[in-house]
Amino acid sequence: MNYPVWDVPHLGSGLVIALIAIFHIMIAHFAVGGGLFLPLAEAIALRQNRQEWLAFLPQHSKFFLILTGVFGAVSGVGIWFSIGLASPEGTSTLIHNFVFGWAIEWVFFIVELTTVAVYYYTWGRIPDRLHLQVGWLYAVASFATLVIINGILTFMLTPGQAWLSVAGTGQEPGMFFRAFFNPTYWPSLALRTLSCVALAGVWALVTGSRIDGRQQPVLKRQWIRWSALWLVPGFLLMPVCLWWYVSRVPAEQLQLLQLGISTIGAGTFTQVTRTLLVSVMASATILAVAYLAAYRKPEQFRLGGALTVLLLGLTATGSAEMARELLRKPYVVVDYMYSNGVRKVAIQRDGQTQHELERFNQDGYLARSPWVRAEERQAWNAETAGGGAGDLTHAGEMGLARGELMFRGQCLACHTVDGYRSMRRLLHDRNEQAISNIVAMLHKHEADSPYRAFMPPLVGTQAERDALAAYLNYVAHGQAETNSAGL
Ligand code: HEC
Repeated sequence: MNYPVWDVPHLGSGLVIALIAIFHIMIAHFAVGGGLFLPLAEAIALRQNRQEWLAFLPQHSKFFLILTGVFGAVSGVGIWFSIGLASPEGTSTLIHNFVFGWAIEWVFFIVELTTVAVYYYTWGRIPDRLHLQVGWLYAVASFATLVIINGILTFMLTPGQAWLSVAGTGQEPGMFFRAFFNPTYWPSLALRTLSCVALAGVWALVTGSRIDGRQQPVLKRQWIRWSALWLVPGFLLMPVCLWWYVSRVPAEQLQLLQLGISTIGAGTFTQVTRTLLVSVMASATILAVAYLAAYRKPEQFRLGGALTVLLLGLTATGSAEMARELLRKPYVVVDYMYSNGVRKVAIQRDGQTQHELERFNQDGYLARSPWVRAEERQAWNAETAGGGAGDLTHAGEMGLARGELMFRGQCLACHTVDGYRSMRRLLHDRNEQAISNIVAMLHKHEADSPYRAFMPPLVGTQAERDALAAYLNYVAHGQAETNSAGL
């Protein structure tokens, strides 16, 4: 626990990342899909001499420029800030493994941002052919950003045996390409590409809905119908690609999903299953709305209809991304690092093999934490010399503070005290003994523990675990045995 923790009250850091990421993905996928949409539309308009289209396209590309160049770029940086704060160890792993990948990614970002600006500002100012070429250059650069980020994102869920076999040894860079083109790389790229194409259609419906159908009935009909068609490939191919993707996810990660599906009768969906179902249902509704409202009656398609499709698109994209994130629980990088930054894999450092789990259990999770002052550490060591936290009435204040540090270090990645996945709600009905039992179960992390599928093993000495239990009891019932910590 070397880094500071990021405590976001009520929401939790994970949810903040999710909110920024979903907003970003809606725009970033549009940036890629739109990259194909714009030059294709321009090429068709030029070839068939559709003057109305040529007059309207600059408007759509202005909207495109602002949305992707401003909101897309800013939210992308927002993801960096939030993951760096919420999961510093995980972020560091990604940076170390993919330095070269990130560098290439940023080169493409620069090309992307430059060409999109040039494309917009040179409408009617440079020869048509050249303008179209700028559009295609943009399309290639923006697709390349997806090709690269996809390798890093899928790596977290399926780093693959080749990389895992050298993880922690310092030889990881030699496995760059194996880690990059990992088991879920291709199905994920296919899924995301389809989503990009669909979102290009969704956003084009938004600008198309603003065309006045009475003044420009031909343009409106053509544009709306053409935009609606962009939704079709996704709906035809996504189910197959989703199946392909899921078939590449290790069985252990799929447990949560299967647990959910096999218990549908009993009414206890897991979150993964629920979010996946929401995504599928929202997608089906989009197709219905797009066909009935946009394709059948293009002249009457208004902003309200477009925003409905957009909202459904947001729901579908958001829940699909959430399901993917949940699937990765309890890891940041599957089989390598848990969500709370503790490594599962032994690492070689200075010629020695270090098992973080064992070290934390033996020496204490907070033993070397820079967030504990030396005198606090001494007092704590003296108080708990027997092994257990002993009589917490003595160590009460200190124990609660320790417990809180344990909670922050090991639970905060997924829980909050009283908001999202609230500890208070989850523990409210449990008495002190039951809470101690859960803490013990989390620590033992036995093969048949139901928590294993989504929670990492709890590490720390007996005294630290007792302190965590005392703190959780305090959180659940408003007071611990001694309520002197003033928490
Ligand atoms: C990787 C994410 C993750 C981490 C880290 C994590 N949990 Fe959880 N925990 C979950 C999820 C997901 C659930 C299920 C939530 C739900 O049902 O609403 C859960 C549920 C729980 C529950 C309710 C269990 C039940 O049977 O009702 C408790 C208690 C709990 N966690 C305690 C903890 C404690 C204590 C820690 C820190 C030592 C911790 N969790 C760390 C993800 C996590």
